[in-house]
Amino acid sequence: MGSPAIAILGTGAYAPAKILTNEDLAKQVDTSDEWIFTRTGIRERRIAGADETTSSMAAAAARVAMADAGITAADIDLIIVATVTPDLPMPSTACFVQNHLGVPVSAACFDLNAACSGFIYALDTAWAMLGSGRYRHALVIGAEKLSSVVDWTDRTTCVLFGDGAGAVVLGPAKGTAQILGARLYAEGTHTNLLCIGGGGSNVPNPSANPEGPQRHITMKGREIFKIAVREMEEAARDILKQHGLEADRIACVIPHQANLRIIDAISQYLNLPADRFFVNLDRYGNTSAASIPLALDEARRSGRIKAGDTTLLVAFGAGLTYGSALVRW
Ligand code: UT7
Repeated sequence: MGSPAIAILGTGAYAPAKILTNEDLAKQVDTSDEWIFTRTGIRERRIAGADETTSSMAAAAARVAMADAGITAADIDLIIVATVTPDLPMPSTACFVQNHLGVPVSAACFDLNAACSGFIYALDTAWAMLGSGRYRHALVIGAEKLSSVVDWTDRTTCVLFGDGAGAVVLGPAKGTAQILGARLYAEGTHTNLLCIGGGGSNVPNPSANPEGPQRHITMKGREIFKIAVREMEEAARDILKQHGLEADRIACVIPHQANLRIIDAISQYLNLPADRFFVNLDRYGNTSAASIPLALDEARRSGRIKAGDTTLLVAFGAGLTYGSALVRW
């Protein structure tokens, strides 16, 4: 007997209410709406309130996804939270989410760090765990409070990132939204290109070195740009080939929302019109692991994804990591 077919039974998203526009940022650092929009496609991003955490945003998105799937917290037996901004280094954000939602103690709950590819990594992991038959319903969540690790004096990074969360419920397929495949990659030779310094065991303990590295994002943007285009094209081509699909069979691509110029380059290389790519980064910026599930939920609810469509998810991120997944709705 083969593995049971697994589907996305529901989707949900949460974005904090506070909007930070490019004009707002231009009052804080030496930048402009014109520079940010032309170079990235971003107009504004959401910023979590002081009382909001990665886990509270994750739980809010998860509640919407569970309602969409028509299941309750009692049905969940696996929670995976993809994040680079956990509430704390320990315990896992997934355990906080479990507590917020009242998911039973029989559930396995853990975090996963694959940066901006985190949601696809978590989706593939949950798909495999459900495919084993030992788990029935999973919450797969991408959630970030990147405003807590952005250096607000660094114009090369602070204009790019935003906060938010997206979630899906995975469970036994009933004929729709079936996961067809996923591919994961990592290129650890490029760990230095995008990092959050501080807070890890490879830096001096802050109690011994209060002047040590700050817990801030640092990035070599131009290098990442080039590699990201190559990696996302490779991840897309590999999975299409594996499933014997020509690119034009993809009705909707949900790419990681980092930079519109990266998305446009992939559209050209895959020879797929730009209107097949769902884009909401103008309103949310780069929300790392949250970006794909946030966009996926919006694409579904706006009617951009229709029954029978084959959707390609494709991401890249720090690590560097990259990956792709195919879903037939
Ligand atoms: O999820 C993965 C996250 N990482 C990424 O997605 C990063 C991918 N990379 C990018 O998206 C782009 O490389 C950036 C948007 C980060 C930068 O765009 P760019 O076209 O590669 O610009 P650049 O880094 O080559 O900088 C061009 C100029 C520089 O000035 P000079 O040296 O030419 O005088 C920068 O100092 O733009 C300057 N600059 C800015 N100017 C105004 C950099 N940031 C800003 C800013 N406002 N915010």
